[in-house]
Amino acid sequence: MTKLRDKVVAVTGAGSGIGRALAQRLAALGAHLALSDIDEGTLRETAGSISGVNVSIHAVDVRSRDAVERYAAEARAKHGGVDVIVNNAGRTVYGSLDEVSYEDFAMVLDINMWGVVYGTRAFLPLLRERPEGHVVNISSINAMVPFAKNGPYNMSKYAVLGFSETLGLELRGQPIRVTCVHPGGIQTNIVNNAKNMTKEQATAFGRVAKTTAPAAAIAIARAIEKNKRQVFIGIDAKTMALCKRIAPHTTLQATAKFMETFGPK
Ligand SMILES: NC(=O)c1ccc[n+]([C@@H]2O[C@H](COP(=O)([O-])OP(=O)(O)OC[C@H]3O[C@@H](n4cnc5c(N)ncnc54)[C@H](O)[C@@H]3O)[C@@H](O)[C@H]2O)c1
Repeated sequence: MTKLRDKVVAVTGAGSGIGRALAQRLAALGAHLALSDIDEGTLRETAGSISGVNVSIHAVDVRSRDAVERYAAEARAKHGGVDVIVNNAGRTVYGSLDEVSYEDFAMVLDINMWGVVYGTRAFLPLLRERPEGHVVNISSINAMVPFAKNGPYNMSKYAVLGFSETLGLELRGQPIRVTCVHPGGIQTNIVNNAKNMTKEQATAFGRVAKTTAPAAAIAIARAIEKNKRQVFIGIDAKTMALCKRIAPHTTLQATAKFMETFGPK
């Protein structure tokens, strides 16, 4: 997508963090917005912080296929069409693979993996109605370098990468691009919203996050306009991705050691 100006962009999870900052950045670039989140209150705050473009808000739980399909239909009705879908909503649960409950495991996969599948499939027919379209899926550096006690999340983000790469292949020859985004640590509410994480653990996780949400938003908007297939956000993500390619086992062990020392206990 060469220019975001006057395009219509749908963003899930737009009530906080990267989704909110991205909505603000896209508005600054002149894009119109169909914003959604499970939390209508924070979604209204995001919409209230934006002016000068058309903004619609939609209370959507991305775990519900029906709700996501309704969101696409509403966005089309309000804006006359949609050019870009950003599947951003996400959540994690803290705990080892043998102690996380099946319910929490499913909750994370339902939001982070199925939410991306539902969002993509619901909006693809709308993107096909436009001269060019774009699917943006927010994965994580955890799709290359997993953290211990973050298993369901790591899994979901590997799945988002596999889904995005397959989609890119299947859309070859069509004017729809796919970008998979791999942020490193971004200063957002993700740790506060994490299930089973104490305040101390969230603070420790938060300390290793060095990139701001507005900086992440600038990088994502640029990646859309430059049709990047993959983007790593933050020096931490870029370094980890490079090290993983060069020395996979050592990178996983060194990251685990780093997280044991500086991350949550
Ligand atoms: N913050 C980081 O360090 C980081 C790193 C890598 C990837 N990411 C990814 O970035 C994306 C955005 O996360 P963030 O860091 O801004 O976190 P955040 O917690 O600040 O924002 C996530 C938003 O998603 C919404 N959400 C949660 N469950 C939902 C559901 N079922 N349906 C609809 N909306 C729902 C929340 O209400 C919230 O507004 C996520 O996919 C996350 O995995 C974040």
